[in-house]
Amino acid sequence: MCGIIGILSDYPVGDYLIEGLKRLEYRGYDSAGIAVLQDHKIQVLRTVGAVNKLEQSYAASPFVGNVGIAHTRWATHGGVSEKNAHPHLSCKGDVAVIHNGIIQNYSELRQRLQNNGHIFRSDTDTEVAAHLLEDELGSGKSLLQAAIAIAKELRGEYALVFMLKDFPDKMIAIRKSSPLLIGVGQNENIVSSDALAFLDKTNRAIFLEDESIAIIGKKDIEVYTFSGQRRKLHAIELAAEFSLPDKESYEHFTIKEIHEQPEVIAKVLEQEPGSFTLFRKEIERAKRIFIVAAGSSFHASLLGRSYLSEYAGIYSDVVLASEYKSVAKWFDDDCLILCVSQSGETMDVIEAAKTAKQNGATVISIVNRSPSTLEKTSDAVVRLNIGAEVGVAATKSFTAQAFLFYAVAKGNMQAHDAVELKGAMTEVLRHEAMIAKLSDIISRSKDVYYLGRGLNYAIALEGALKLKELAYMHAEGLAAGELKHGPLALIEKGTPLFLINPEDDTYEETLSNGVEVKSRGGMLIGLSTKPSVHYDFFVRLPEVRREFYPIVESIPLQLLAYYSAKVLNKDVDRPRNLAKSVTVK
Ligand code: G6P
Repeated sequence: MCGIIGILSDYPVGDYLIEGLKRLEYRGYDSAGIAVLQDHKIQVLRTVGAVNKLEQSYAASPFVGNVGIAHTRWATHGGVSEKNAHPHLSCKGDVAVIHNGIIQNYSELRQRLQNNGHIFRSDTDTEVAAHLLEDELGSGKSLLQAAIAIAKELRGEYALVFMLKDFPDKMIAIRKSSPLLIGVGQNENIVSSDALAFLDKTNRAIFLEDESIAIIGKKDIEVYTFSGQRRKLHAIELAAEFSLPDKESYEHFTIKEIHEQPEVIAKVLEQEPGSFTLFRKEIERAKRIFIVAAGSSFHASLLGRSYLSEYAGIYSDVVLASEYKSVAKWFDDDCLILCVSQSGETMDVIEAAKTAKQNGATVISIVNRSPSTLEKTSDAVVRLNIGAEVGVAATKSFTAQAFLFYAVAKGNMQAHDAVELKGAMTEVLRHEAMIAKLSDIISRSKDVYYLGRGLNYAIALEGALKLKELAYMHAEGLAAGELKHGPLALIEKGTPLFLINPEDDTYEETLSNGVEVKSRGGMLIGLSTKPSVHYDFFVRLPEVRREFYPIVESIPLQLLAYYSAKVLNKDVDRPRNLAKSVTVK
């Protein structure tokens, strides 16, 4: 996590860095900072809170300089405080560093540096890098030699960018696992975690390969391996999908993205025939299939497993990316790993993909953002094609992933499927005002439960996750049959329970589970095609074919989470403590 940006230019860079940070904020937003080389001195400003706090402080006393770095943080080591915000300086203030990732051996390095007289001013893992570089350069090493020495010392995963008082026309960037790329401009170069930060300046970018060191000037870029071999540079032209997203007339990106779903669902079918055929072929060839994902992508993968089982007759296993090691011994030549990730940057998913590749398995990734580290690690990639998703909580990527799985399981890309879904999604969105009112009631509750069976179980999990992420409310998604194995004890008078219950083969049994809750005083909210006297509130689902119900059901639950967050005055697009791209383990 964390967003980093550094720039060397002919013009003052301060305002530009702040603008860049705003576009990187989806990567973390608990504190932010900027450092600019001004009059042979590194000037630093750091603030707690989102980038607009930094912007306000910076506007009051801006720096003037043509070289600078900036950072928006998602705290790992060291609490959320000004002293732990990046950039961090070395003792003499000659080296400033920004970092995305985790330096695992920072404690021992810190101890050693402190024993040698270095004074630390933060609790972060990052600060060791500034002190180490100060020592290496102090011993007379060149920039490259010093960077190689640091790369040898640091364990973990990191994207580091250093600004140097004594080398005002150069920056050092070091990449291990965490993403880092360089925007190649006219007489200026920009290094960042994401091209979004520099797209308005240039769409030519060099994606640094893993384990690379870059020595960056205004007009020149040299890239080396960790052993000092020069790498060939390939600048690529970035595609339109990198265009900067716009909220249009919506109050938040999240609600805009919820509303986009009927329009973008058909885009999922815009696949190159080759990649779709390969996907199908690999699914049929593999003796074992593991679907690996995190968060909402995991929930979409649960649906994916059911679709593959029902419509392709193929058994697969779904594994939480952070738990992939428990099945890694089964990753071999006969195995297909489907990595599902909106961002393509989730560290746990990437690690699973790398392990799978090392063990000879085939890796196909399903991503939205592109290019991404995950797709570079995979044998093949299938893209959702639904445009940038900015809201931290996944919405349109979830429904798109589910639909893609459906199309793959069916083995064909039928335009009329997308038309049917579009109609149903549009219809269910008409309940928005009613759900907004319902959110007033739900947001007063201590706990909220979601119940579903079969295909609808994944939506119970996803509905609960949305409410946690957006409204910070305790919510649990349950398999309907599990209710009586414990959770029923939690039902009190007025406890809200969403019964996800379209008229499919699970209808009767699930309704009975709802009645059990009602009999114990719970408040029952039915999401169904059919009203029931047992429901205290009813959200009517449009009739669609059975396999599409889950995709449609997820939309009212997204709306519920969104409006509950609004009632509770939460930061909808940027929920506290979360980030859109989880680039640490
Ligand atoms: C974060 C986001 C979630 C997302 C998860 C997986 O936790 O806040 O909304 O579902 O990461 O992200 P991915 O990009 O791998 O789908």
